[in-house]
Amino acid sequence: MNGFNRKVLTLDEFTIQGLRDFPQATGELSGLLRDMGLAAKRVNVEVNKAGLVDILGNANKINVQGEDVMKLDEFANKQFMGALQHGISCAGIGSEELDDFVAFDDEVSMNSKYVCLFDPLDGSGNIDVNVSIGTIFSVFRRVSPKGTPVILEDFIQKGRRQVAAGYIVYGSSTMLVYATRRGVNGFTLDPSIGEFCLSHPQLQCPDDGRIYSVNHGHFFRYDEKVRDYINICQNKNAANGGPYTQRYIGSMVSDVHRNLIKGGIFMYPGTSDRPGGKLRLMYESNPFAFIVEVAGGIATDGVQPILDIQPTELHQRTPMFIGSRKMMEELESIIGSTK
Ligand code: AHG
Ligand code: MN
Ligand code: MN
Repeated sequence: MNGFNRKVLTLDEFTIQGLRDFPQATGELSGLLRDMGLAAKRVNVEVNKAGLVDILGNANKINVQGEDVMKLDEFANKQFMGALQHGISCAGIGSEELDDFVAFDDEVSMNSKYVCLFDPLDGSGNIDVNVSIGTIFSVFRRVSPKGTPVILEDFIQKGRRQVAAGYIVYGSSTMLVYATRRGVNGFTLDPSIGEFCLSHPQLQCPDDGRIYSVNHGHFFRYDEKVRDYINICQNKNAANGGPYTQRYIGSMVSDVHRNLIKGGIFMYPGTSDRPGGKLRLMYESNPFAFIVEVAGGIATDGVQPILDIQPTELHQRTPMFIGSRKMMEELESIIGSTK
């Protein structure tokens, strides 16, 4: 043995191998994932330095180009947008950080078939306190003809039409998880070689779980049925499938990632002051709904599957309930009756 582990499959090798099953595939989607992986590595380096911002930032409020030091979510936005713009697979992007979508106007990009929507840094309130944050992305096939600039309709498609979706969690290790209709696979960044390596092949969300994740601070602003369900979670014991544990990080990426692996339910319901909830359909809810459904779980807004919502605008919000199939069925049996 020369120490080289042949069992290690990198993200690039994995997507290229997948192409063998589809002789008609152009490799554009693999290219897009590679671009996302590249940008993620750049963001990862900066996220890891986040604690230094005070000492570096103070000395350096203006960088060498005379620009203000960028906030991490703007930096991440720039990296993902730049990587996709310079690749060959993406005709335009929508980002939580930008008011409008961006149509790439160079010849190569305009001839690409995909558009990508992303939340460049999710959980940004956690950056300052060294808690895991993430990136979320969603890929659609454009509906406008190739060779022309993309239009709003390319982006505001039902989640059901996603071709792929994924997330990166910058945690105790950095992971990229992505789903196509063929399955969900997780790759862990090996920092020593700078490659995402397949570590969680064919992820399945456990059918049942014991973790519930919700912001209890909003409890009295949730509707009565949601409160009933939370009470049920709190009253679980050995006789009825419990006890449950409450876990809420406040970074959706980390919360849903944990529940996807361990089994659980994550909720961001509407509140009396914000009936539409907080999470953004196109950048947060759709991609996670796609990933979790492919993994065997369920995602709804309390009325219908997230993936069936017809979006009307890029930045619209939706209540969200997502997780293990059995827990979601119990939730639906409680909250379904009012809808
Ligand atoms: P973002 O940082 O992209 O604005 O998103 C944060 C989101 C989500 O990640 C998390 O689950 C939720 O906000 C937490 O909100 P609350 O603090 O209201 O619970
Ligand atoms: Mn977010
Ligand atoms: Mn964000």
